[in-house]
Parts: sequence; C-alpha cells; structure tokens
Amino acid sequence: MVKFQVLPVMSTMKAALVKTLGLVHDSDILEIVEDYPRPSRGKGQVLVRVLTCATSAGDMHVMSGRVSFAITPPSFPYIPGSSVCGVVEEADPEAEFKLGDRVIAHMGMKPWGALAEYAVFEARNCVLAPESISDEVASACGDSAATALKAVELAGVKEGHRVLVLGGSGGVGSCCVQLAKIAGASFVAATSTQVKLLEEELKADRAINYKEVDWWSIAEFQEQPFDCIIDCVGGGGHFGKAGANRVLKSGGSGGKFIAVVGDEPEPIIHNPLQLAGFASRLLWRSLWTWLWPWSPRYICFVTDADSSTIKTILDHMAKDKLLLKVDSSGPYPFTKDGVTAALKLQESHRAHGKVVIRVNRKG
Ligand SMILES: NC(=O)c1ccc[n+]([C@@H]2O[C@H](COP(=O)([O-])OP(=O)(O)OC[C@H]3O[C@@H](n4cnc5c(N)ncnc54)[C@H](OP(=O)(O)O)[C@@H]3O)[C@@H](O)[C@H]2O)c1
Repeated sequence: MVKFQVLPVMSTMKAALVKTLGLVHDSDILEIVEDYPRPSRGKGQVLVRVLTCATSAGDMHVMSGRVSFAITPPSFPYIPGSSVCGVVEEADPEAEFKLGDRVIAHMGMKPWGALAEYAVFEARNCVLAPESISDEVASACGDSAATALKAVELAGVKEGHRVLVLGGSGGVGSCCVQLAKIAGASFVAATSTQVKLLEEELKADRAINYKEVDWWSIAEFQEQPFDCIIDCVGGGGHFGKAGANRVLKSGGSGGKFIAVVGDEPEPIIHNPLQLAGFASRLLWRSLWTWLWPWSPRYICFVTDADSSTIKTILDHMAKDKLLLKVDSSGPYPFTKDGVTAALKLQESHRAHGKVVIRVNRKG
C-alpha cells in the first residue's frame, strides 16, 4: 500500500522587500515578491491583513542607511513600512479585537515589517478604526499625527497663543497647524508652497510661501513675536534666525522652539562617535536655552505612537474635525512601480499630507 506523508503547507504572501540600503530615487533597492512566508504572531500580538500602508519620513531614514548605527532592520532583505489600516486575522482570545475587526496598527519604534499582505503588530499598538474614516486616512493616524500631537503638547499651546509651523503642508505639519488651533491658538501661520491648502483646508490664519518670502523678515512677526515655532522642516538655521530677528519670544516670556526636525534633517549616523555628536548638539542647545531665559527655549523629541496617542487623535478627528491630509496623488498600487513612486515622493520631502499605498481590497 502506498503511504502518503502530509507535509505542512507554508502560507505565503505578497510583500515589498528592500534588498539593500540606499536611496529609492537613484538605485534599484526594492522588489515585490509573491511568495514571502506569512508571519505568525506570538502572545500579545495581532496578525493583521493589511489594507493600506502609509509611508513616513522614518521609513526613509532607515531605508537610506543614513542612521544605520542608531536603527537598522534585523536582517536583509527586509519588509519596509510601519503604519497600516488592516483587518484582524488572529488575536489572543482575551484581546479587545476579534476576527474581521478593522484596526489602525503601528510598528512602534521599529519602522519595518508592515508593507505586505499580512503583518504582525503588538496589540498595544492597535486601535479599532472608526467606520467614519477611510482605510487611507486610518493608515495615516499612526506616526505623523502622533508626532504633531506631541509637538503641540510640548509647546504648551494655549488660548491666545501665536504659533508658526514651518513645513505646514507635510504629514506632521498639516496636523500641527490644526492641533495648535484646537489647543486655542488665536493666530497660526505656516510656511509651504501650498498656500491654498494651508488657508482653505487647514484653516491657517496666514500662509507664507517660503520660496517668495523669508518668514523671519516679516515686520508683523517682529512686532508681535510668536509664542511658539514648530519646525517640521529642519536645517536652514531656523532657530538662529528666529532668535536673531526676534520673531519668537524669549524663553523667559514663554517662547519655545519645538524641533520636530533638528539642524540635520538627514543625519548621518554610522558609528558611536557620530551618534554622540548628533545627540550632544541637540541636547546641549536644549540645556543652555533652558538655563538662559533671554533666548527662546529649544525643545527636541522623538515620538512613539502607542494606542492611547492614536485614540487621542481619533477623538480630535471626531470632536474637533481634525483633518488627516492624504497626498492626493495616492493611493499608490501595490506593484513595484506603485511602491517605488510612493517612496520617491516620501523621499523628496514634497508630499502634501501622508503618502498611502493600497495593499489589499476589503473582504
Ligand atoms: N521628532 C520625531 O519624533 C519625528 C517623528 C516623525 C517625523 N519627524 C520628522 O518630521 C519631518 C516632517 O515629516 P513629514 O512626514 O511631515 O514630511 P516631509 O516629507 O519631511 O515634508 C513634506 C513637506 O515639507 C514641506 N517643505 C519642504 N521643504 C520646506 C521648506 N523649506 N519650508 C517649508 N516647507 C517645506 C513640503 O511642502 P512644499 O511642497 O510646500 O515645499 C511638504 O509639504 C521629517 O523630517 C521627519 O523626519 C520627526
């Protein structure tokens, strides 16, 4: 009699893979494969069928290899992506999610593993997605909005404050503009070439096209300095320009400069010395401006989007009509050309809102 041996069938999935670190716009670092092993989850984790995945500046820092000493994927090739909207396939029996629930999920401080048909997330980084928001918007809740929330909190924006957001049309900046208003700011100005978007959609009180006007030289801003500047662009000596031109109040009068991005928007960190230099430059300025009340205070930070932060963002969306801007060129298809185009846009610093890739359809 012939005996058949039953072999386990390995489930596979379609996934984006980064073969080697580099810039998307000048090298062929990416491929899409159809037969990558499906991940399996452990206790406290949720297996999600990904519907949409939003890219982020953090994805590009890792992919470029610029910060390889500080943060690098555990092995190669690796699956990029960190922020998704998806459907629960498997969770612990006692978890708050059940099969088929639509969730917003984020990888936390490890920006990889999400741009595939299936991905595993820590349950603490997952939140039920409200029916009222689209998959595209849900995938955009994870990192940029959380960063903006933290920036506005650190700035201590209050009723009557005057706030300037540098880079007001990006994923982080577009939320900063709105969250500053929600916190009670009486005047919010922002810089970008997207003047119409800032004024009409994001309701900024003043939009400054930075290609035409230097924000630090505007007489009105020098006469009535800001309580806070939130810098979502970095580089360009913005902190020095704000202080030297007196468009930001001194620390003694409550003036704060919130560096979402520091002087090095694309830092190079390949060894401990470069890491120490990068961190000490930021921390030294934070320290001396804290001790020296005649200068505006300089505050830098790193965010981690956990479920409570995402819930706060969802609350603002429901109550305060916070609009999570998705770049209108997307959603991009889950093909090599589609993913490459999405990542190139993210890499260019020209995205107007979040860049989203459609991975799966519902059902
Ligand atoms: N500290 C943290 O924990 C943390 C967390 C997340 C992100 N970040 C950082 O936050 C930054 C923003 O990220 P993002 O995802 O929002 O988008 P991004 O891709 O860095 O920025 C896109 C936006 O920047 C605008 N922009 C570019 N150059 C500008 C300039 N010189 N002046 C004014 N606007 C300018 C562009 O508008 P135009 O087309 O009008 O130029 C575009 O809307 C990134 O550098 C990222 O690394 C920090």
